[in-house]
Amino acid sequence: CGIVAYVGKQEALPVIIKGLKRLEYRGYDSAGVALLNDAGLNVYKKKGKVSELENFIEANPNLHSHIGIGHTRWATHGEPNDVNAHPHYSSSENFAMIHNGIIENYEVLKTDLINKGYTFHSDTDSEVFINFIEDIHQNNNCSLEEAVRLALHKIVGAYAIVLMNKEEPDTLIAARKGSPLVIGVGEEEFFLASDATPIVEYTNQVVYLDDYEIAVIRDAKLQIKTIENVETHPYINKLDMELEAIEKGGYEHFMLKEINEQPRSIADCMRGRLDSRAGRLILGGLRDYMNKFQNADRIIITACGTSWHAGLVAEYLFEEFARVPVEVEYASEFRYRNPVINSRDFVIAISQSGETADTLAAIELAKQKGATIFGVCNVVGSSIARATHAGSYTHAGPEIGVASTKAFTAQISVLSMMALMLGYQRGTLPESKYMELLSELEAIPAKVEKALKLNEQIERIAAQYKDARNFLYLGRGYNFPVALEGALKLKEISYIHAEGYPAAEMKHGPIALIDEEMPVVFIATQDSSYEKVVSNIQEVKARKGKIIAVVTEGDQTVKKMADHVIEIPRAHEAFVPLISVLPLQQLSYHIAVMRGCNVDQPRNLAKSVTVE
Ligand code: G6P
Repeated sequence: CGIVAYVGKQEALPVIIKGLKRLEYRGYDSAGVALLNDAGLNVYKKKGKVSELENFIEANPNLHSHIGIGHTRWATHGEPNDVNAHPHYSSSENFAMIHNGIIENYEVLKTDLINKGYTFHSDTDSEVFINFIEDIHQNNNCSLEEAVRLALHKIVGAYAIVLMNKEEPDTLIAARKGSPLVIGVGEEEFFLASDATPIVEYTNQVVYLDDYEIAVIRDAKLQIKTIENVETHPYINKLDMELEAIEKGGYEHFMLKEINEQPRSIADCMRGRLDSRAGRLILGGLRDYMNKFQNADRIIITACGTSWHAGLVAEYLFEEFARVPVEVEYASEFRYRNPVINSRDFVIAISQSGETADTLAAIELAKQKGATIFGVCNVVGSSIARATHAGSYTHAGPEIGVASTKAFTAQISVLSMMALMLGYQRGTLPESKYMELLSELEAIPAKVEKALKLNEQIERIAAQYKDARNFLYLGRGYNFPVALEGALKLKEISYIHAEGYPAAEMKHGPIALIDEEMPVVFIATQDSSYEKVVSNIQEVKARKGKIIAVVTEGDQTVKKMADHVIEIPRAHEAFVPLISVLPLQQLSYHIAVMRGCNVDQPRNLAKSVTVE
């Protein structure tokens, strides 16, 4: 979900609506705002996109206000509809609240409140939360901020909340635990949001609220205290984000813009870190932890979704170059299965948003067991970036399209640099090989640029297969995670069922699916498993499957067998995923567009999954 709030001299509604649109990638099944003016505290909410909310409230005469809160939702408790949308009123309608996160003990609290005579309009945990606060407010005869503070001691779960009070037209109260909240500090005005995207056009001064902190903005002043009632000093960070980075810049979709940004985003990721001529490779974040990294018995990589696929690529890289055992774990499985971890383990947590709840929880678990935790995040100042001991940002710039593209290649770029540093330090990569790999990696952005020029060819292929009901993606070695990622991209945005498999595993099951209706995408670049993949292609051909093959430029063998070949520039085997994934991103993009799908905001998905 995305939350946004404003208090200051501007009209609140346009600021909030614009902010919600910027945050829509975080959730878009319903939206709402609350405004406070002479007409009182009013909540307006609507199922669907922010634009539907806008149409819905347009005709209303009472929209002038200098304070307001807004929310765009990704449903957890209760289906997406008008009633379950946020903000929620308290029973007295004196307070309104927006909430991002999930309250685990809400059923107990709800039963208690029902016994006390409260009634609920929605199925949400958030409505329970605001009434729980109101109940404390009434029973203790205290201020709203004190009621919030007392309530937070009893709340189990994750939250970022902002509250308004009918009686205090210049006050916003906010708090967080586990869900992000950024406060933009302007001149006598404040912007609160789940991330910095709604704030960047107004101010570059931001305060990241910490877990268990409560912010009170009153009379144009910001005060922060902990839930133990200890006042803390707000630390103002300078936001390093340009407005253009979060706008479409002439592209039809954010996803297409982000696909095309990859030559630059990968170069940005390596800038100042890698210089092959000088033989230099430095990741500042690793400096103080190189010893731990180098002497680790094992590397554990934990992540979700696309980031987990980047982790799989890293497994091959670390094992090949540095000869360290690596395990790649879905954060959601890792955290619940009592894993064996100790202080000699080096854990790498990969996350574009830096907010994924499962990944965050996996980090906390590994930390408790004494492991060193290193973050590979894209969003600066995000929860994961702050929860880890050290880390390297991917510097891909804001990624808005829900299907991750440039973040994936930037993650692999960081992980490649880490693997090379580790191999060199551990002596498993001889100097000459190391130097050669540095220049191979440095050459990648130019090859990415070249590969992206295949777009029109891929669009034609997409037109032929857009109505397929299933797809299979097959690859081996470094291209196996790419097959998984290609299948995930297609599923996410076109809703076509797709599976990624190691090509050799096909014969243990998926081969049964193959007939003349089944498109099979092979990633068959000329690397150490090329011959084997060629045999797999023949097996599919013999069963009349339609073959779309991503091959190395100039390949003649596969051309004779495949229905379509997509020729990508030759690169070192270890860095091929940075290139071979590109046509798969483009293929899924075009198929989704041709099927009329909402590419940037696919159904049921959210960019930043802050619930477990
Ligand atoms: C969501 C997104 C995916 C992403 C995954 C992990 O499911 O829709 O695109 O790969 O979360 O997100 P993270 O921000 O941790 O990389």
